[in-house]
Amino acid sequence: MTGFPKEFLWGGAVAANQCEGAWNEDGKGVSIQDVLPKGMAGPRTGKPTRDNLKLEGIDFYHRYKEDVKLMAEMGFRVFRTSIAWSRIYPNGDETEPNEKGLQFYDDLFDECRKYGMELIVTLSHYETPLHLSEKYDGWCSRELICFYKRYVTTVFTRYKDKVKYWLTFNEINSILHAPFMSGGISTPKEQLTETQLYQAIHHELVASAWAVKLGHEINPDFKIGCMILSFPVYPLTPDPSDVIAAMEKDHSNTLFADVHVRGYYPGYAYRYFREHGIKMKVTEEDEAVLKHTVDFVSFSYYTSSCASADRERAGEGKGNILMGISNPALKASQWGWQIDPKGLRYVLNCLWDRYQKPLFIVENGLGALDTLVKGDDGIWTVDDEYRIDYLREHILQMKEAVEDGVNLMGYTTWGCIDLVSASTAELRKRYGFIYVDRNDDGSGSLARYRKKSFYWYKKVIESNGSEL
Ligand code: BG6
Repeated sequence: MTGFPKEFLWGGAVAANQCEGAWNEDGKGVSIQDVLPKGMAGPRTGKPTRDNLKLEGIDFYHRYKEDVKLMAEMGFRVFRTSIAWSRIYPNGDETEPNEKGLQFYDDLFDECRKYGMELIVTLSHYETPLHLSEKYDGWCSRELICFYKRYVTTVFTRYKDKVKYWLTFNEINSILHAPFMSGGISTPKEQLTETQLYQAIHHELVASAWAVKLGHEINPDFKIGCMILSFPVYPLTPDPSDVIAAMEKDHSNTLFADVHVRGYYPGYAYRYFREHGIKMKVTEEDEAVLKHTVDFVSFSYYTSSCASADRERAGEGKGNILMGISNPALKASQWGWQIDPKGLRYVLNCLWDRYQKPLFIVENGLGALDTLVKGDDGIWTVDDEYRIDYLREHILQMKEAVEDGVNLMGYTTWGCIDLVSASTAELRKRYGFIYVDRNDDGSGSLARYRKKSFYWYKKVIESNGSEL
């Protein structure tokens, strides 16, 4: 194999809660994101507040036609977005869906298909209906499996001829670090026992397997994948104790993909449960349904970290959700996330060797401060050569991995249009090829402008990755 396969899925990714806005329109219920005005790490409010940028987002809900057209102009072969669960089931536990919410995604998906774009849709991207969090403590409750099954059956049936690729939970392993944002768990993290946390994880894993089973029954051509926050962990030194520390840290991530791909918990997980006194309720039906394994493995990739046997050093570095020790060999972004293109080749090889399942990079990109300038033609643009450099280096490493024999299906860059950050709820942390005139204080015309990277990515897609 030289270069990318000709059917390679180039595109971009967003999530409903970070771009749609219209947080309470057309019958949408409140989601956990609507009460996180400062992002993942900030305080939770009881109800949506005006200083929450996400409530209006980039107004994608009303402007999606213009945005999809721009994506089509770049030649996107695929667009990744999520369905906001609370648009379909506003509280999450109703028996009948909200027709207006369903209609919105019909219209959006039709618009994408008009340009020949495939869709890859995340069923749950950090946007559990708030009611499920408040009444049931989110995924701590087994009842969520039922509500999720009802929701996914509704959307699988409705969009069975429009969407081919599905992801069950965004970055499912992030629940270990962000139980509210990732799992809708309202019990404060410090009060949550490990048994409760792993029980919630188990419920999500079972729900994910149900989605695979139900989806394949509804349309056998569906390709349903898991989605993992990938985070290569290197030993800080060659000391074997550091190597083991890195392996153990890695296990806390691989656990999730292992269950999705193999259909059962790995031995190292049982050891961890034993040694930490974790006792979960696992039924025979759970064990049977877990055997419905995923068609492909998708993941996000932004950064890597180091691990050391010296426990005092853990958590020194910066990352969006997972943290580790900074790598002295790497530089970092303006937000302190270390930049490691070779880590992407490494992760691709590790996942391929471990699972022999097709892989899909569904998030990667550089969050940076952009400055709008007038181009020679008098049109506003951003000279974002730094973003082009970042993406070029990562795509080169993807190419290396393909040469290594890795089966890679596609690449969707994160935040292909500027959107609200998940960790900090800022808009000035921009990832897009398309600039959105909106500022952190809520000002701005919401007009869209093509950045320099827009034209660059268009060429990358046109040449199937040979012109970088
Ligand atoms: C991933 C999430 O963790 O990273 C996205 O799936 C998120 O929702 C992305 O936006 C980038 O992180 P941030 O905090 O810069 O938005």
